[in-house]
Amino acid sequence: MNAWTTTALAELTPAERQVADLLPIEADTAEARAVLNEVPFWFHTFALNRAEEIYAPGYARDHRYRVPAIPESFEGLSVLDIGSFDGFYAFLAEARGAERVVAVDNEQYLDWVRARWGIELEGGEGFRAIHRLLGSGVEYRKLDAFDLDRLGESFDFIFCCGILHRVEAPTRLLEVLSRRLAVGGRVPRRRRPGPPLRPGRGLSPRRLRLLGVHRGRDRDARPQERLPGLRVDRFPGDRRPPADHRLAESLSDA
Ligand SMILES: C[S@@+](CC[C@H](N)C(=O)[O-])C[C@H]1O[C@@H](n2cnc3c(N)ncnc32)[C@H](O)[C@@H]1O
Repeated sequence: MNAWTTTALAELTPAERQVADLLPIEADTAEARAVLNEVPFWFHTFALNRAEEIYAPGYARDHRYRVPAIPESFEGLSVLDIGSFDGFYAFLAEARGAERVVAVDNEQYLDWVRARWGIELEGGEGFRAIHRLLGSGVEYRKLDAFDLDRLGESFDFIFCCGILHRVEAPTRLLEVLSRRLAVGGRVPRRRRPGPPLRPGRGLSPRRLRLLGVHRGRDRDARPQERLPGLRVDRFPGDRRPPADHRLAESLSDA
């Protein structure tokens, strides 16, 4: 096990475990331990073997604010997870009944992990390990989110977490997503009014911690919160500064 994993394990928090436990992997003890040696860095925390308390320790420390906004069931839905990293949300959607799940990442995190911790990743190590342990059918594509049209298919639900506020053209990304969304996709609804979103007028990171977007009529949104043909949902009740702001800073430095 490398030094990064050893430190991260020592710092594993109950908050991380609580979210990881939504996806109990229940791997064989030896396999779970082997995975900890094999994968040099994790963004997401995974419950590899709860009986033995073996967790893969993620850099993202507290995603509890996301949990109420994630549907209990993805039964029959096709799901796209953009900027998937280790794929926790893609695997969770699959475990909750999604019919088809595609996870996409351009793997720009390789530069961030190298610059910050001096760890050389190939890309997709964590994703592949969990995929194997779960016997998952989630399909992984190394792809930039702006090139999603290349997939040539649309999805009922798109996870757009931790990425929109890190791209240079968030409105253009939303437009790309709107072309990949099937009409009538289901996502959590906004529960409190937020500041207006004005395309092309400097969307602030604080406003853009998104869970999902979907197409179609949006009777509840105020006119200034509408993007053409697109409705934006945020995590309900979330008043914290941008998610993992330490990460946001280091990614923009990278
Ligand atoms: C902060 S991580 C978020 C991981 C996960 N979505 C979450 O919120 O838990 C951002 C991820 O988005 C990826 N990413 C950033 N810009 C991207 C782009 N233009 N296309 C695809 N992936 C991108 C990074 O490589 C990284 O894996």
